Amino acid sequence: MKTVTLIKGDGIGPEIADACLKVFEKANVNINWDIQLAGLKAVEEYGTPLPNEVIESIKKNKIALKAPCTTPIGKGFRSVNVALRKELDLYASVREAKNLNNIKTRYENVDITVIRENTEDLYAGIERKIDDDTCESIKIITRAASMRIGKYAFDYAIKNSRKKVTAITKANICKLTDGLFLECVRNVAKEYEGKIEYNEILIDNACMQLVINPNQFDVMVLPNLYGDIVSDLTSGLVGGLGVAPGANIGKDYAVFEAVHGSAPDIAGKNIANPTALLRSGILMLEYMGENNAANNIKNALYKVFDEGNVLTRDLGGNATTNEFVEAIITNLK
Ligand code: NAI
Repeated sequence: MKTVTLIKGDGIGPEIADACLKVFEKANVNINWDIQLAGLKAVEEYGTPLPNEVIESIKKNKIALKAPCTTPIGKGFRSVNVALRKELDLYASVREAKNLNNIKTRYENVDITVIRENTEDLYAGIERKIDDDTCESIKIITRAASMRIGKYAFDYAIKNSRKKVTAITKANICKLTDGLFLECVRNVAKEYEGKIEYNEILIDNACMQLVINPNQFDVMVLPNLYGDIVSDLTSGLVGGLGVAPGANIGKDYAVFEAVHGSAPDIAGKNIANPTALLRSGILMLEYMGENNAANNIKNALYKVFDEGNVLTRDLGGNATTNEFVEAIITNLK
């Protein structure tokens, strides 16, 4: 039996992680969970948000399912998520945004994958206070990481029968950093000429275009910070953060997590939507080659949306997390 690291996280994390565990168990998924503590609870217990045991566990098991962890805003410890991605070199964040049946959205047929470089840019966290009135943050972009993410985006496009990759930057202003990113993706694009269409657009225009005509986009490739922001935008196009799954992929390890955070505003109320984490779990099963289990859970989940009468509040329904989970379980084969 395969062992997978599970991080239940903070806020709504434990509720949605338990919801996924229940669905996995009822679907007879053959996984032994190595449960690890990270985030606020780990600070309370071990004095650090990311104990070494967590990293060691993922290095041993190679795969993790992770619920969101809280990061203090403007002070306190560094993000567990960022540290994990860096430590395990999970260089590609893959976030798919596709319409679901019965989920009311502004646009139909949205099917966008955001491929976000996950290890550098302003996320490197190299910041310093110059004096009381001035701070600086250093934006790191390297040729190696930009080539690697460019290649990942085009390979993803080929593997998933997609047609177009769009590179998104602010290279008119950040001429050196975003300029280097763009130069690298352009170079990669040449290798795929005739196979995958390629275009470029500036990040500000991309946001406007996404809101006006999202159907023009297929696969997007972006530096870290723009990718972070745009993937929340694309999840908003297809029903919001409650449904948006994500995968952090590296050469040796993979960590699957929802796009959303720990949602402290709704934590402990049994109203969180577990779909985003469950869909991340489905991506994980596919990555592991457990396609039967993945399809079983996917079909059961999608049937709940097809029927449309048991939905959580974020999707306009009034079902609790538990009721939603029971509806999925009823549909399992
Ligand atoms: P958030 O994504 O936690 O919440 C934004 C809004 O979406 C809230 O109104 C929340 O109630 C709603 N929402 C999110 N997930 C939902 C779900 N599954 N079901 C229903 N509604 C849902 O973003 P926020 O509030 O900016 O961040 C909260 C904390 O999460 C912060 O400490 C932040 O650093 C952390 N965070 C962690 C991430 C991770 O672990 N990968 C990613 C993003 C944020």
